[in-house]
Amino acid sequence: MPTIYETVVRSPAYQSAKKQLIDALRQELGAITQPRPSAADLKAQYEELVKQVADLRGRELFYKFIGSGAGNGPFIELADGSVKYDLITGIGVNFFGHGNLELFEAEIDSLWCHVMQGNLGPNPEYGALMKELLSLVGAKSRLKHVWLTTCGATANEIALKIVRQKKFPASKIMAFKECFAGRTTALQEITDNARYREGQPTYGEVHYLPFFNQKSTLSATDQAAGVITSMKEEFARQPGRFACLEFEIVQGEGGFNAAPREFLLPIIEEAKRNGLAIWVDEIQTFGRTGEVFCYQRLGLDEHIDVATVAKLLQTGAVLYTQEYNPKAGLISGTFAGSSGGLRAGRKGLELLKTKLAGPNGRIRQLEKLSNSEFERIKAGPNGKHLVDYTVIGGMIAFTLFDGTLDQAKKYLFKLWDLGAIAFYCGHGPYRIRMLPPFGVMTDEQLRHVFKLFDEAITETARELRI
Ligand SMILES: Cc1ncc(COP(=O)(O)O)c(C=O)c1O
Repeated sequence: MPTIYETVVRSPAYQSAKKQLIDALRQELGAITQPRPSAADLKAQYEELVKQVADLRGRELFYKFIGSGAGNGPFIELADGSVKYDLITGIGVNFFGHGNLELFEAEIDSLWCHVMQGNLGPNPEYGALMKELLSLVGAKSRLKHVWLTTCGATANEIALKIVRQKKFPASKIMAFKECFAGRTTALQEITDNARYREGQPTYGEVHYLPFFNQKSTLSATDQAAGVITSMKEEFARQPGRFACLEFEIVQGEGGFNAAPREFLLPIIEEAKRNGLAIWVDEIQTFGRTGEVFCYQRLGLDEHIDVATVAKLLQTGAVLYTQEYNPKAGLISGTFAGSSGGLRAGRKGLELLKTKLAGPNGRIRQLEKLSNSEFERIKAGPNGKHLVDYTVIGGMIAFTLFDGTLDQAKKYLFKLWDLGAIAFYCGHGPYRIRMLPPFGVMTDEQLRHVFKLFDEAITETARELRI
């Protein structure tokens, strides 16, 4: 006997209404195909909206950026009627673009159910997302369980508790300089940025190791050997105190610094020899770097004990091996995610699996194109201003001019005026960063974006008189 839920979603009236809605959206949103300026008659109202947000939260927005809700692929419509390329996608959330009707169609059948689902009494979306996520960890991976939570920071908090329980009484964390782990009381101590913990206590729980330096004259293996020497010293100084090694494979906030396997593997092995759990923070890298998990790109699958993901999953999750399954009572929480988010997250995983990830997937094609576009700029008149660039799938950053924050901001606002939204990362040099919607972008759109980059370099250089 079908459930009432099934009866509803299978009914011809429901199916036809759903089709009509999707057709109407396709028709209207499909018309958004390029950047356009704001509408004069919406200007005053928009300024008021922006001011209200700043007043309410006690801090201005970085950009005057309030979306209307509509968009199409890489294009976002703002509430002033303007359209821009969204290359930062809510810091990586909207990887599958705006107005994505595949995701919306997946969401619809839950939009009239619970708004949010929790860890007590979930609907089928909860188990379905967990199953799909675990099916993608790779044949060599030992990750066996998953816990859903609502964002990256809570995923990392859960991961930290899991490894500390397992390694008790060891509690300390080895992390890399310039890392970012989130902003809760525990995570602001791991995050290597003094500005983010002003006025906050720290408990001496984190030891920082130097991260891979692409500009060093030393090979990755030699750099790793240096790090291992300092790990050994620390293990000797504080025997039995370290619970885990925590790291991003590509540091996001820290400047899009990417470490190769030759650097990470020996460090992981040294950590394991000393009984540390291996915890990879894939909150920013997940789904984005050409494989579903970035550890797969480096072939580190079997070494990972705990992995955290969020952002483009549309909720947060902690994955862990059987050995790390915590005792009852340690982890829970009211929310696992919104019903729509759990469904959209699952659809996103399907898209990654079927067309986006993998050596011949769409992400790698766009990575290749991005590299060639950077080379084109490098060979052109603005090449002298382009100091360096990094492309790892849909994680893209470049350094311009002297790499100061002031110059980076000037450039970003030029780009904004030209119709593209990016952001910055790093702590000097400050780099221009993008987490573009590689889940939907066409080659033509990406080439257009690079044209805008080039134009914005010309205009910024002119203003800076360099
Ligand atoms: C690597 C990394 N860890 C943790 C977080 C925190 O995630 P959230 O902002 O969802 O709490 C972020 C967010 O940018 C991140 O990039």
